[in-house]
Amino acid sequence: MSDTVYLNGSFLPLEQATVPVLDRGFIFGDGVYEVIPVYSGHPFRLDEHLDRLTNSLDEIRIRQPLDRAAWRHVARELISANHHLQDQSLYIQVTRGVAPRDQAFPPATVTPTVLVMSMPLVTPPVELVESGVSAITALDIRWQRCNIKAVSLLANVLLRQEAADHDVAETLMLRDGYLTEGSSSNVFIVKQGKLLAPPKNQYMLPGITYDVILELAERHGIPHAVEMISEERLRSADEIWLTSSTKEVLAVVSLDGKIIGTGEPGPVFSRMYALYQEFKQHIMRTGG
Ligand code: PDD
Repeated sequence: MSDTVYLNGSFLPLEQATVPVLDRGFIFGDGVYEVIPVYSGHPFRLDEHLDRLTNSLDEIRIRQPLDRAAWRHVARELISANHHLQDQSLYIQVTRGVAPRDQAFPPATVTPTVLVMSMPLVTPPVELVESGVSAITALDIRWQRCNIKAVSLLANVLLRQEAADHDVAETLMLRDGYLTEGSSSNVFIVKQGKLLAPPKNQYMLPGITYDVILELAERHGIPHAVEMISEERLRSADEIWLTSSTKEVLAVVSLDGKIIGTGEPGPVFSRMYALYQEFKQHIMRTGG
């Protein structure tokens, strides 16, 4: 964790960054967030992450606390305060602010609480990439607005803990018989050489990495389609992948204790992983 964080207009040491207990983020989980990977000092797709943040704020009717130039300035300052880290993970959180406890919105004079901090970006070790990981499935018990990157993550926390209790990496969620996403990742499958992704809608977070994977598939001629994935198709997939800013792309080789494909990361995964790493070295690390 960095020593310096940004809180409500000031850069200050982490130990001094405190929020009143009546902050609505603490009381209600009334806020939104972003996680932005930073490679060799370059935030990846900062504009896209800020667009998603803007959208999350609009969806829950919190006014935009900073304009684009100000967000960029804060990001730059924190990244340079942490230049000793090769790769960083910038965390932004905005809550509706501090007010007496009442579910209804506070008066418009209440200012949103803004926290930005940087942490080391921890991506999966190469052994995990080569072996693949196990996952379980569970009913998607979340609400109907999962496109909002909300800090109220209780369902995700419980679902992710279910994975931890089973000593596996992730819980894949099913809603009405269809795959939505993982507790903290998007999910792709491969069926007979074709990459399939569930469509973006209110039941999943529109991942920035999800977009990168589809772009790489398009650019390199990997057959792909965006369509609803039934539980049956998920379970009979040749390959299953997880994607996120921190997981990058990771193969799932066992689901609910049953082997997926050959039980090893598949050929389409290996190709995409190589393409992703190449993209990271040549584009993400150079600020492209
Ligand atoms: N989570 N779906 C969910 C529910 C997520 O929490 C995440 C990322 C994703 C992938 O989004 P992206 O590719 O933009 O990282 C999908 C972040 C990393 C987190 O909460 O830590």
